[in-house]
Amino acid sequence: MRAVVLVGGFGTRLRPLTNSIPKPMLPVGQLPIIERLVMNLARGGVTEVTLALGFKPEPFVEAFPSGECAGVALRYAVEPEPLDTAGAIRFAADSAGIDDTFIVVNGDVITDLDVSALVAFHREHGAEATLHLIGVPDPSAFGVVALDADGRVERFVEKPAPGTAPSNLINAGTYVLEPSVLQRIPTGQKVSIERATFPAVVADGGLFAMATDDYWLDTGRPELYLQANVDMVAGRRRHDHCDAVHELASVAADAVLVDSLVGPGAELGAGATLVRSVLLSGAVVGAGAQVTDSVVMGRIGEGADVRDSVVGADGVVAPNEHVHGERRPDPDAG
Ligand code: GDD
Ligand code: MG
Repeated sequence: MRAVVLVGGFGTRLRPLTNSIPKPMLPVGQLPIIERLVMNLARGGVTEVTLALGFKPEPFVEAFPSGECAGVALRYAVEPEPLDTAGAIRFAADSAGIDDTFIVVNGDVITDLDVSALVAFHREHGAEATLHLIGVPDPSAFGVVALDADGRVERFVEKPAPGTAPSNLINAGTYVLEPSVLQRIPTGQKVSIERATFPAVVADGGLFAMATDDYWLDTGRPELYLQANVDMVAGRRRHDHCDAVHELASVAADAVLVDSLVGPGAELGAGATLVRSVLLSGAVVGAGAQVTDSVVMGRIGEGADVRDSVVGADGVVAPNEHVHGERRPDPDAG
């Protein structure tokens, strides 16, 4: 089975991390998000993935020079301009010549979903399109559905105003689509699958959805990106595991790590402490520093105390400085 993975967004909510690396190339458990995602698609029977890219394909091509990722053949479809979710799916599917039932995934989703079970559900219901759903306490930041007893979607509402959501079941960003869905999407223009295409399929009674309680995260915000890493190293995933310290990292013998990861080339100094945090490639944490609930790509001076913060590749924390709840450099500063 073939799949389209949407990776063309700008990763705005993950700045300043995404100033230097596209969101899908940021690591979760020492491997790029996209590779974790493709590994799960491969487990579910996917053999070819087309990456729907809105801009700069180079970091992806460099990361997977053989045109293969997790044993799956990779294709690249680069839009001339961002076409939004449905426009991107149409563009990528056309460029890959997709003419049979296929999978679509939002490129920032990390999940243990059994994709083959979603395909089986889709076929049993004779659906035109099938969504994976997850129950969440606050659905307002997502697409939300109302379902009937047979799993047919009666309403799909993207990002409803707080308090107006029809249920707590959200679109978890993995779809099974019939090629007829492509015919609903005009070519060469911006079209949202959530706001235009799904409501049209609902009107024709062809949208179905399967809720599961699998592990699931949208890594698009810093605290959730961090959570995806911490969950991996803490062993909360069904199939995936990772080393806390990459073999190319440098960690002092007396440094302390609690539910944390240190990536290739990162350095953790003598007596430093890392709690529920991630040091990415390029991070340098000085002796005696404390880093808690944070993601670091830049430099943290000796004895500093960093909490609930994101330090990008150009971010610097001075020796002994206390930094709480900051992004450095500040993405919103001029
Ligand atoms: N190629 C391409 N072109 N990709 C795009 C474009 C585009 O113009 N716009 C967005 N994408 C990609 C993003 O890179 C991301 O992988 C995916 O489409 C979804 O965009 P997000 O910006 O992450 O959307 P969201 O998280 O606010 O909402 C979506 O995901 C939720 C689940 O995580 C929606 O699908 C919601 O309905 C859903 O609940
Ligand atoms: Mg997202």
